[in-house]
Amino acid sequence: MGQKAERLLALIFNYISKIAAIHDPDELLIEVARMGRDIVQADRCSVWLLDREREILWTKVAQGVAPLRIPARSGIVGEAILTEKPIVINDVYAHPKFNRNVDKETGYKTESMMVIPIYTSNEEVVGAIQVINKLDKSGFNDEELRHLMLASSYVAESIESSLLLEEIDATQRELVYIMGVTGESRSKETGNHVKRVAEYSRLLAELLGLSEEECGILKDASPMHDLGKIAIPDAVLNKPGRFNEEERKIMNTHAELGYNILKGSERTLLKAAAIVAHQHHEKWDGTGYPNGLKGEAIHIYGRITALADVFDALGSDRVYKRAWDDERIFTLFKEERGKHFDPQLIDLFFENLEPFLEIREQFKDVYHGT
Ligand code: C2E
Ligand code: SIN
Ligand code: SIN
Ligand code: FE
Ligand code: FE
Repeated sequence: MGQKAERLLALIFNYISKIAAIHDPDELLIEVARMGRDIVQADRCSVWLLDREREILWTKVAQGVAPLRIPARSGIVGEAILTEKPIVINDVYAHPKFNRNVDKETGYKTESMMVIPIYTSNEEVVGAIQVINKLDKSGFNDEELRHLMLASSYVAESIESSLLLEEIDATQRELVYIMGVTGESRSKETGNHVKRVAEYSRLLAELLGLSEEECGILKDASPMHDLGKIAIPDAVLNKPGRFNEEERKIMNTHAELGYNILKGSERTLLKAAAIVAHQHHEKWDGTGYPNGLKGEAIHIYGRITALADVFDALGSDRVYKRAWDDERIFTLFKEERGKHFDPQLIDLFFENLEPFLEIREQFKDVYHGT
């Protein structure tokens, strides 16, 4: 594993335990902002919230500075919110929209900056996440922009669900969600891939007759299936074409990598997530990876997530292929009954096609563009 990947894994691992123990929504935001800051190696990070009524932006999290308020349309943050587009600037003082008064007020010298709008699930912009000053002074790059975009989708989740946070496991669930989104670090994907996989997995678990508790656990754990992709080099993960043998080998390590991140936890949900990360590319006939497990030796969570993940992957555009039409997907599923997939799950899928297609429609992708 490369040094960069190791740093990211260590960092996420470190935040798992911290965030899982937090029950206060404000504290959660702060911790998430810090994670965003650390992932992109910035000096500071703020979450700006938009108060539409009073037309101001105010900071929820501003490390090392007192809370700030600025007019909603001013500055670079205002620009990102108005245009609903992320902004990366590596020489802030040369930027016409930069509001020097903020530096004057705080005595801090801003050099580089990334600002990413925060969307709620109904596509409304509620604020922005901002990181300032790349620590090594090299400026921010595209990969870091992408990582911060993923962190920002989690900030949105935690803002939206803060009212439900009395639920004891909510923070843990959210953490699991962001880690899933982070694993799916593809430039053009929104968080909806992991949402759909979660819903398909729960539906299959229900149809199979698993207990209500297990259905819920699987729904929350299945978004983690590709967590290990965070450690896959960008050149492989985002290769705009088919893999060669070497690249394929590197990519296949993502199952074991995700498992290694998660296996240490004693918590029910993270344990389930570890199983899903480890086994979602195993195949019923024993030809899958990483361990070539066969039939019921593959945990039911792994068998279910495998079907959910492939159904979604085939129906979606990827950097390396276009989306398949439904007939082609159904043909493959029939061919792979008892080969790639658990035959009982394939039968349940075809007997209940309607609700699967409804989930796909409800959580279809929306591109924000960068
Ligand atoms: P993914 O894109 O989310 O795909 C998940 C799984 O869906 C794949 O697991 C595979 O079982 C199925 N799948 C997706 N697209 C196709 C397809 O065009 N044909 C068939 N027969 N099955 C498909 P798999 O193969 O183990 O790949 C795991 C991950 O590796 C993929 O996740 C993707 O991120 C990456 N990947 C696989 N092949 C390539 C490639 O040729 N180029 C690039 N850039 N990435 C690839
Ligand atoms: C930190 O950024 O971790 C310390 C500053 C703060 O407490 O916000
Ligand atoms: C701005 O967007 O220019 C003000 C915010 C900041 O500099 O932190
Ligand atoms: Fe995978
Ligand atoms: Fe996936």
